[in-house]
Amino acid sequence: MIEVEVGLGARTYPILIEHGLLDRAATHLARFTRGGRLVVVTDANVAAAQLERFTVGLGDIAIEAIVLPPGETTKSWAVLEELTDQLLDLGVERSDRIVALGGGVIGDLVGFAAAILKRGCGFVQVPTSLLAQVDSSVGGKTAINSRAGKNLVGAFHQPDLVLIDPATLATLSARELRSGYAEVVKYGLIDDPAFFAWCEANAPALLAGDTDALTHAIAHSVRAKARVVAADERETTGTRALLNLGHTFGHALEAETCFSDTLLHGEAVACGTALAFRFSATLGLCAEEEAARVGYHLARAGLPTTLAEAHVDASGATLVAHMAHDKKMEGGRLPFLLAHGIGRTFLARDVALADVARFLDAER
Ligand code: GLY
Repeated sequence: MIEVEVGLGARTYPILIEHGLLDRAATHLARFTRGGRLVVVTDANVAAAQLERFTVGLGDIAIEAIVLPPGETTKSWAVLEELTDQLLDLGVERSDRIVALGGGVIGDLVGFAAAILKRGCGFVQVPTSLLAQVDSSVGGKTAINSRAGKNLVGAFHQPDLVLIDPATLATLSARELRSGYAEVVKYGLIDDPAFFAWCEANAPALLAGDTDALTHAIAHSVRAKARVVAADERETTGTRALLNLGHTFGHALEAETCFSDTLLHGEAVACGTALAFRFSATLGLCAEEEAARVGYHLARAGLPTTLAEAHVDASGATLVAHMAHDKKMEGGRLPFLLAHGIGRTFLARDVALADVARFLDAER
């Protein structure tokens, strides 16, 4: 078993990674039960694929399962209200640990419910998608979406434990796996060119579901994320902001496609990352060949790297207008993740949105 620690003083917690871990969940969750019971929140798709296995793995521990509808629309005020009412009806106490079994939507929603229920309950992340295993389950960002945009209502609330079982990825669609892979590549592009080279060599095996490749990628990504979160938990120094590579362009693309299945989050991040590198090249910050190498790798992994492939035909002005809702806006300016090359990402605070719009119009 691989154990990675997120070092946050008294709130330090472990991430355990092992193929088949769900089958042995009781070993790690027994200490979190009250009266031999655990409350588990999941969605209908994950319930169908994993809940029985998880229940068997919990042995004598009884579970109360709350099963929510799948999809991004579940991260809403309405579902949050319903969920918190159900948790209160079940008598959840502050010292309880609510288990979030699912992908990024379930992790973000349950984490936020735990953050506000009785002014803060504990929770455990059991991520079942690649995207959640390498990114969203670690680091305590929790949120729901609001009318104005994605993840705009939320809290930093760290889990008490993260259990990652790469075996859960076997039931993901190839598209979901590719989408999560965009967040894996991100760690190489930010500051780890050797890991990007590993991705170039191993993406075919990983995307074919090879257990060793998946476990290596997850462990490497989680170690990188744990280091960043320990250094800048609340994204105040700029270190954690680097994890948003591709996300500013990506969120605009997601907004334009109405956060629908037309473009999954990881697909938007992949396209956003390719755009961020090409924009950096346009500004003369990054060699054209480096930007092309990034785009080529993402495209070979089956991810969209152009506006057309992302099914977006909006003008630069429209896409930039979506960016204005970004929660990272600072005094009317939007910090942008740009790159001097592969593994050399940096935060630029002086990017003019008019230049971004012009670049996007040229990309159309
Ligand atoms: N997903 C980016 C972060 O957790 O900071």
